[in-house]
Amino acid sequence: MSILIRNGTVITAESTFPADILVDGEKIKEVRPGIPSNAGDTVLDATGLLLLPGGIDAHTHLDMPFGGTTSSDDFETGTRAAAFGGTTTIVDFAIQARGTRMRDALDTWWKKAERKACIDFGLHMIVTDLGGAGLEDMDDMVREGVASFKLFMAYPNVLMVDDATIFRALSQTAKNGALICMHAENGGVIDVIVQRALADGKTAPIYHALTRPTTAEAEAVHRAIALAEIAGVPVYIVHLSSEDALNEVREARDRGLPAFAETCPQYLLLSIEELERPNFEGAKYVFTPPLREKKNLGKLWDGLKHDHLQVVSTDHCPFCFEDQKILGKDDFTKIPNGGPGIENRLQLIHHHGVNQGKLTINRFVELVSTTPARIFGMYPRKGVLAPGSDADIVFWDSAAEHTISAKTHHMRVDYSMFEGFQVKGNVRTVMSRGEVIIDHGQFLGKPGRGQYLKRQARGGAWA
Ligand code: URP
Ligand code: ZN
Ligand code: ZN
Repeated sequence: MSILIRNGTVITAESTFPADILVDGEKIKEVRPGIPSNAGDTVLDATGLLLLPGGIDAHTHLDMPFGGTTSSDDFETGTRAAAFGGTTTIVDFAIQARGTRMRDALDTWWKKAERKACIDFGLHMIVTDLGGAGLEDMDDMVREGVASFKLFMAYPNVLMVDDATIFRALSQTAKNGALICMHAENGGVIDVIVQRALADGKTAPIYHALTRPTTAEAEAVHRAIALAEIAGVPVYIVHLSSEDALNEVREARDRGLPAFAETCPQYLLLSIEELERPNFEGAKYVFTPPLREKKNLGKLWDGLKHDHLQVVSTDHCPFCFEDQKILGKDDFTKIPNGGPGIENRLQLIHHHGVNQGKLTINRFVELVSTTPARIFGMYPRKGVLAPGSDADIVFWDSAAEHTISAKTHHMRVDYSMFEGFQVKGNVRTVMSRGEVIIDHGQFLGKPGRGQYLKRQARGGAWA
């Protein structure tokens, strides 16, 4: 079955050009102007629209247990919402429970996803325990297409691992080619500050932000990069939130080190004042690292522009306000950490980045699709519109106006962090492996159609 997309403007990370795209089954066959249509081709008209490679969100938490509850989007609702926003691939996180094997976690997450995912998905593995056969388990995971591991320098006694564990994991990637992703905050120091705040009766949501200084993030970023330098491997900093942390990544990259980092729309567009909202509504903005002072926002945009930051992901980890965030009503440490965003990433980065002149349209595509595909071992299957690539194609209407709201979004969560934000530029049609799954605001896909992606360990080939 062939589909001919006519008269579009193709956007890649490098260039913008008028072209037709011929899709044969699940793959792109040709990209050039003037492709003739054959009898039997379905013809889709993309006049006036941009054609983007499907968005890749390299950081999501669907159906994730946290703090006695579970993130409110599962693989069905979360991936459907992603598709509405032009994201056709996610990389979610399986979590190794302490004292168990990574394979158990991988099986658990496959089960969570297999009959539900509406778009393709890969999995990172969160490593909490490298005892026993931990290093062999990492190699085993790489063979299963888990080409990246996340380690936590925060959340003592829950997810945090010590420097020796981090260093052993980093060193193993020199052999197996995987990439270590770091949650970089000094958890031990933060915990002391948190205990002092609680002892002083400071229990409101704002203290979540006030107890996690940017220096605690910058110190951990510095340490993560130093440990990777000693091990002689690349490292990827997740959800970077502050200028202080950014400076550490920039200095490392200036020294030629393969240090990479992502930030998220919330750190680019929101600031610490949100946590002071009355009636406990500040809890809607409790995630980690926390929102920062406004002066950081412009620095992060500059970082994206100048390639000190390489990726925009969402860290989508939704918890409903009414029955989940409320768990921390009397103690900010009990507020489930995380916020929703999987649906709005392209809209927000396009509007505030491209429309406001902070990013070119090509850099936008690079940040939300091409570079995540490269870094996480999916390129050129994903992340580019070229012959042989999966036909994951977003028909983008740069003139479409939209107001973001929990009343109309598709994420299974009762609030939006970006309520009332007006954006210009939105999805018209979304194709995933040659199948139209979104058209004019209608979902046409099916739960379970999304495939698990075996990702390539690249061993820093992209560095
Ligand atoms: O607060 C957050 N970010 N929750 C999700 C877990 C993580 O650290 O990414
Ligand atoms: Zn994290
Ligand atoms: Zn996360």
